[in-house]
Amino acid sequence: MTFSEKIEALVSELKSAKAERLEDAEQFRIKYLGSKGRFKTLFIEFKEATSEEKRAFGKQLNELKAQAEEKFKAWKEKLDSEKDQTQKLDLTRPAMYKEPGAEHPISLIKREIIDIFHAIGFSVAEGPEIEDDWHNFTALNFPPEHPARDMQDTFFVRNPNGTGEDYVLRTHTSSVQVRTMQNEKPPIRIIAPGRVFRNEAVSARSHCIFHQIEGLYIDEGVTFADMKQTLEYFAKEFFGKSKIRLRPSYFPFTEPSAEMDVYWGLENELDYRITKGTGWLEVMGCGMVDPAVLESCGIDSEKYSGFAFGMGLERSAMQRFQIPDIRMIFENDVRFLKQFQTAL
Ligand code: PHE
Repeated sequence: MTFSEKIEALVSELKSAKAERLEDAEQFRIKYLGSKGRFKTLFIEFKEATSEEKRAFGKQLNELKAQAEEKFKAWKEKLDSEKDQTQKLDLTRPAMYKEPGAEHPISLIKREIIDIFHAIGFSVAEGPEIEDDWHNFTALNFPPEHPARDMQDTFFVRNPNGTGEDYVLRTHTSSVQVRTMQNEKPPIRIIAPGRVFRNEAVSARSHCIFHQIEGLYIDEGVTFADMKQTLEYFAKEFFGKSKIRLRPSYFPFTEPSAEMDVYWGLENELDYRITKGTGWLEVMGCGMVDPAVLESCGIDSEKYSGFAFGMGLERSAMQRFQIPDIRMIFENDVRFLKQFQTAL
């Protein structure tokens, strides 16, 4: 074999050399770069070469060796780091156990109610929890200093600049209805779920934070009968009960106003407890939106009418899941929350 043929063979061998494991890289090093390796022998032979060959291949031989060294170094680095990683990964270790989460009972109930109203064309509207006085009270017919405000005392947040309005933590999501009426044209069909705040007497059973879903429907010619139909539909879907009654009540923003009760029945002891022995379960407040409220939100009360309703979620959740004490809903004790992994 001439020297030129040897070089040619070496070039093609180096080109096709591969190393998938550290052992392959080491084999390569021994075979080509080792003390008895191909380069060593070639350099020895080179000394015997003709001066013509020396001129032709000297530089190339050096370059090839440098390339082979580079190749080896790159393989080694890559394979070494891969080895480190696999060593750090202890495949015999037991897998980390991640307990499946559970939706909070309030979220479960909220989602169910949203779905029920969604099916008849209501969409979800949301608004701020820190609300201005006007949206929470004044626009809803609770003028400043009006005694009706006592029904919903709240937490007042002073405007930091000391100018303009102070804020309140909203006492109901009716404020979201006000915002929607201001921004949209009828027909309006919304439900407003959310967290609300009231300054209630501190006792074992009362809480300053709770959750509501309120609904609003405004269009031409909406009547009390439409409201009754809608609430009956809800009672059927949510409670599986078809008898409801509307008791006269008072809210500043609806006229007439009512409380809606569902006939629960009195078949067993639990029914007695839930309905306080009456057979009726109080579910929500409702009524025809007062024309003055429509007007203060920029809706023509001669042309449009509507109804609104609002209910607390805690009570529904307690009744649905037989939760004996409202405080359990807020304590976030995992032993309690875990039980909802398979609920609904
Ligand atoms: N906003 C009332 C409350 O929080 C509930 C309600 C809403 C009543 C709409 C009537 C109509 O008590």
